Amino acid sequence: MNNAQTSDQTLQQVLKARRIVRPLVLVGLMGVGKSTIGRRLATALERDFVDADEEIERAANRSVAEIFEAHGEAYFRDGERRVIARLMEEGHGVIATGGGAFVDDETRALVLEQGLAIWLDCDLDTLVERTSRKDTRPLLKSGDPRTILRDLKERRSAAYAQAQVHVVTDEGPHEATVQRIVRELAAWQ
Ligand code: S3P
Repeated sequence: MNNAQTSDQTLQQVLKARRIVRPLVLVGLMGVGKSTIGRRLATALERDFVDADEEIERAANRSVAEIFEAHGEAYFRDGERRVIARLMEEGHGVIATGGGAFVDDETRALVLEQGLAIWLDCDLDTLVERTSRKDTRPLLKSGDPRTILRDLKERRSAAYAQAQVHVVTDEGPHEATVQRIVRELAAWQ
């Protein structure tokens, strides 16, 4: 296939994916790239983008780490559930969620019913490498990050696997992942 045919096919896929009116909700483990890829996906599909963790921080006027420290994880999860319900209700185009959000039964049911969940998945080494670039994640501070991430991957994969779309992200450029998502969305129609 020549370049012109490839880009024509890509354009057709983008146009098809743009017809999806439901919020596209990125789910998956910490470090998989939900926010970065979500932003680029939103640009490609000409939709707005919102990051659920940032919205939680704005609502609480504190960082995620501060909320965990002051009130504990259960309190954070309550806020997270409420904020995501509001974002779904507001009908945003692309929503990036924190890694634990889709594991919550209520949030998962809501997203699956009213939105389209996209599970971004990658191997453990990549997750460890990417999460090591920032030290803002409270769950990774209680022990060895690799062990914690391996354990979370094991425990959460069954929930993530319920997402309508599953895309494996690798070390390649983010644009390639965005194109892969667009292709899956076009096929999902
Ligand atoms: C969490 C992931 C974080 C954040 C919080 C808890 C988790 O978001 O919501 O630290 O339970 O996996 P990212 O996945 O964006 O890092």
